[in-house]
Amino acid sequence: MKKLLSASMMCADLTNVEKAVRELEAAEIEYLHIDIMDGSFVPNITLGFDFVNALKSITDIPLDVHMMVNNPARFIDRMKLDKGDVICIHYEADENAKDTLELIRSHGCQAGLAINPTTPLSCLEGFEASIDMALVMTVTPGFAGQKMFDGAQEKVTEARKLLSTADRYIPIEVDGNMSSENGRKLSAAGADIFVLGTSGLFIKNKDMKVAADEFRAVL
Ligand code: DX5
Ligand code: ZN
Repeated sequence: MKKLLSASMMCADLTNVEKAVRELEAAEIEYLHIDIMDGSFVPNITLGFDFVNALKSITDIPLDVHMMVNNPARFIDRMKLDKGDVICIHYEADENAKDTLELIRSHGCQAGLAINPTTPLSCLEGFEASIDMALVMTVTPGFAGQKMFDGAQEKVTEARKLLSTADRYIPIEVDGNMSSENGRKLSAAGADIFVLGTSGLFIKNKDMKVAADEFRAVL
């Protein structure tokens, strides 16, 4: 499939979100990635459901919501999304992940399942029918500005292999320290959607369209 870029909104200028959104539209970014944290599953709190709904009201770029929240099922109905949008939950945060993925689909959007760097890839086994996207975290979730873990490339290769047994193509998203150099390696390994934060898109004194085009050029 075509390689897609997802802009990590926690890295945008939060004092002028609409301006950032217009620049991301001009850069033809395919998704807006919204990190939702609960201060418990991860030791940080960033964006929330009102932010998701506010973004939805000002842009047609599909939203890619990454929920780093324990028991996410209780919050799914707080977001007003549609079929082009994705809600991704963490395998580690939900004992009933299959039910929650089904709940997400029943709200008319796409369902994604994320795994942390320390979670074995084999945990995705058996979820093929329940997911529309797999999110392989390339840093420990919670904070921008970290370094990609060693072994990320191999994990994406393994993920692509595991998902190839599914009856349809399941995109792999990668999130964390997505510089163009890391993007190039993970693209070759089979990643499809790249979450761009401080490493790949929100770079001081660099136009977002220039950064996005440079990133696309290496994929
Ligand atoms: C966490 C976030 C981050 C971050 C990506 O889920 O999505 O990984 O914003 O940006 P950098 O490039 O700073 O890791
Ligand atoms: Zn994220």
